[in-house]
Amino acid sequence: MAKKHKDTVRKQFAKTVEAFSKYAVRDSGDTLAEQVEFTKPQPADLALDVACGPGRYALALAPRVRFARGIDLTPEMLRQAREFQRERGIANAFFDCGDADQLPYPDRSFDLVTCQYAFHHMQKPAAALAQMLRVLKPAGRIVVIDSLAPESDRKFELHNRIELLRDPSHAETLRLTSLLRLFDELGLEVARQSIRRRERSFHQWMLRAGIAPSDPRYGETRGLLADSMSGDTAGFSPKPNGDDFKITHNEALFLLNRIEPTQVKKKA
Ligand SMILES: C[S@@+](CC[C@H](N)C(=O)[O-])C[C@H]1O[C@@H](n2cnc3c(N)ncnc32)[C@H](O)[C@@H]1O
Repeated sequence: MAKKHKDTVRKQFAKTVEAFSKYAVRDSGDTLAEQVEFTKPQPADLALDVACGPGRYALALAPRVRFARGIDLTPEMLRQAREFQRERGIANAFFDCGDADQLPYPDRSFDLVTCQYAFHHMQKPAAALAQMLRVLKPAGRIVVIDSLAPESDRKFELHNRIELLRDPSHAETLRLTSLLRLFDELGLEVARQSIRRRERSFHQWMLRAGIAPSDPRYGETRGLLADSMSGDTAGFSPKPNGDDFKITHNEALFLLNRIEPTQVKKKA
């Protein structure tokens, strides 16, 4: 089951690497700068970005840290990351092909371990986070960035149904409460948290997933979204905009520290 899902992830992102990379580079300069600011990279940091995709975040961190590594499951994404690295003449970065569930690095290797927009593609985000924690130095920091699903069960179900219809590699967007529980269970405390509303074009969102208007899934996804308008029953806050819709994702940014073993004992 896990292998089948990971094959679907590779297939999806091999197909959409061009659209995804264009979006990532063109459309998100300010967002990226905001994310780097939130992360507060330090010059001595050895950084790792898990599920790095086309490397935009690792390459934005590189000038601010000692060395930035990125790892991803999809070889086509890594090819694109290395191409961007060459174009920008960045020497202190390296990209590896590998699985977040089995990071190929020794324990306690990195000062900063990050993962953005990828937990919702993983069937077991807890396994990936446990690996991120394993490779983190004792005083290291973890940054997790991802979309949030609505808290109510009904909205949660429809929200994830729409996401899955658009992208077969979608696993599950988590609720804020589930993420906080996950951090707590793994012995991580939230040092800083920020929630942003990211508005985007439905049409571009579909193109980024490799779905043109001629694809039956385009119309089906659009139909579900339009039906969700009254009462915002899927949590996308859709607003008609000419032929298109504006939709909104709630996005959470977390800076996490390991809870000191003494604190864990006290909690237990
Ligand atoms: C939506 S993209 C985000 C890419 C990048 N983090 C960004 O923000 O631009 C999701 C990425 O997660 C990767 N991915 C999904 N599951 C993974 C896993 N188990 N291990 C490593 N990478 C994974 C995919 O290959 C894809 O490149």
